[in-house]
Amino acid sequence: MKRMYVAPSLLAADFSNLGREVDRIAQADFLHIDIMDGRFVPNLSMGPQVISALRGRSELLFDVHLMLEHPLPYVEVFRHAGADVISFHMECADDPGALIAAIKQSGAKAGIAVKPATPVERLLPYLGELYMVTVMTVEPGFGGQKLMPGPLEKVKKLKEQSPGLLVEVDGGVNRETLALCRDAGVDVLVAGTAIFRAENPSEEIAFLRGSSSF
Ligand code: DX5
Ligand code: ZN
Repeated sequence: MKRMYVAPSLLAADFSNLGREVDRIAQADFLHIDIMDGRFVPNLSMGPQVISALRGRSELLFDVHLMLEHPLPYVEVFRHAGADVISFHMECADDPGALIAAIKQSGAKAGIAVKPATPVERLLPYLGELYMVTVMTVEPGFGGQKLMPGPLEKVKKLKEQSPGLLVEVDGGVNRETLALCRDAGVDVLVAGTAIFRAENPSEEIAFLRGSSSF
């Protein structure tokens, strides 16, 4: 069975105890951190201070998902705070090539995220430059939504086009939707509610990863 990487989404953590929450998911592969500006998505989340504060506490790769209408001025800020991977949304990129260049210039790995209705064809010219593509399986803005299976078709296309690219799915990933994701060829599973609201997050991570016999 293919081993997938697991990226717990901090948005579902207990914000009154973030340090301890990060300790609970120490055996994951990435920490997925959602940054929202109240414009591109109808919600606000956290800023670079949270990332810097957690950087000293965790050795996971920080996978920073920028849901910002104007991401360019923030690339360096988030890299400086401790981001390892920085992804911006295709829907708000006037010049995706310039954003990718800025992310790489900062020393981070570059990713692009796409909303459920955005055609994957828009990404094709950039695939060779990217470390990761995030296929949203919910409308971005909130955790705890139900996975929409339609966008998983995009995962198949991306893996056909670019087998070495990491393809991540974000939104509604849990034990029930895991098989759909695996069959589509997903490499990285973002899961907020499923992991942070579980009694035993390590067990959940092992289950999703596929390395356990639960
Ligand atoms: C939504 C965020 C997701 C969210 C996923 O805009 O990008 O990362 O936290 O949460 P769950 O796993 O609860 O759907
Ligand atoms: Zn996200």
